[in-house]
Amino acid sequence: MPYELKNLPFSAKVLFSSYLIIIAIGYFVALLQILFTHGLADRKFGLSIQDIVYSYYGNRSGSKLETMLNGSMQPYAPPQERFQIIQWVRDGALRTEYETAIRPIIENRCVMCHSPNSSLPDFTRFEEVQKRAETDTGATVQSLVRVTHVHLFGIAFIFMFVGVIFCFATGAPEPLKALAVAMPFIFQLTDIASWWLTKLSPHFAWLVIAGGAGMAMSFVFMWIVSIYEMWILPLKHRPQGIHIESYLRHLRPNKG
Ligand code: HEC
Repeated sequence: MPYELKNLPFSAKVLFSSYLIIIAIGYFVALLQILFTHGLADRKFGLSIQDIVYSYYGNRSGSKLETMLNGSMQPYAPPQERFQIIQWVRDGALRTEYETAIRPIIENRCVMCHSPNSSLPDFTRFEEVQKRAETDTGATVQSLVRVTHVHLFGIAFIFMFVGVIFCFATGAPEPLKALAVAMPFIFQLTDIASWWLTKLSPHFAWLVIAGGAGMAMSFVFMWIVSIYEMWILPLKHRPQGIHIESYLRHLRPNKG
């Protein structure tokens, strides 16, 4: 093989390694991001199957408004007023009742944060409140379409370069290398398919974990092998290399 990671020019090794390190940090931060968004879906820290079900399938035993009023929005209104809002949700979230009984509570307790110029849902608009009074069906098709295309492009791009670097590794047999570079793409498809399947049925939530874990494992494998062959392997092989070279130099004059 003309190019091997272990005897690439120094500059190429620095370039490849810098890329791998940045991507590894990015990967780590992405995992934190998952922990902070999906990880809190069931209001308990840490990622669980329940979080995944809530995120994609939704918590169909109630509405978002109800979940939030019993969860992180609890401190913002006294129990009696929260009960009144929840009662309104359960009675069908009608507009007439909203205007008389509920709007004053929302404007008094919630709108200071949920205002038109915040990034949060604007609760001065009835429709925004009403939308959250419906049964929570998890991720919308619209948001899944968006995340799907962002992930397909973005992650394919990342694993293209991680795979190209890994192709120059020599330590693993060719079939294993082929498998390793294909794995992230296969797991990526599994991962994305699993979001859509979990939206349809909560039974597929474990597949989200499997897809994500498989992708992470193939990333870690290629990352470690690539860094090892660029920086550690040459140190180990240097004495042997010098030995063979001087041996060949020694042979040549005799043959000629
Ligand atoms: C101190 C600011 C603050 C106040 C007051 C507040 N909220 Fe929130 N609310 C937030 C933040 C921040 C989020 C987004 C983060 C999160 O999901 O916890 C949020 C999210 C929500 C959501 C989820 C919206 C969505 O679709 O993701 C609902 C529903 C909600 N709040 C209801 C209420 C209600 C009802 C009140 C009044 C009783 C209220 N909030 C008062 C800050 C506030």
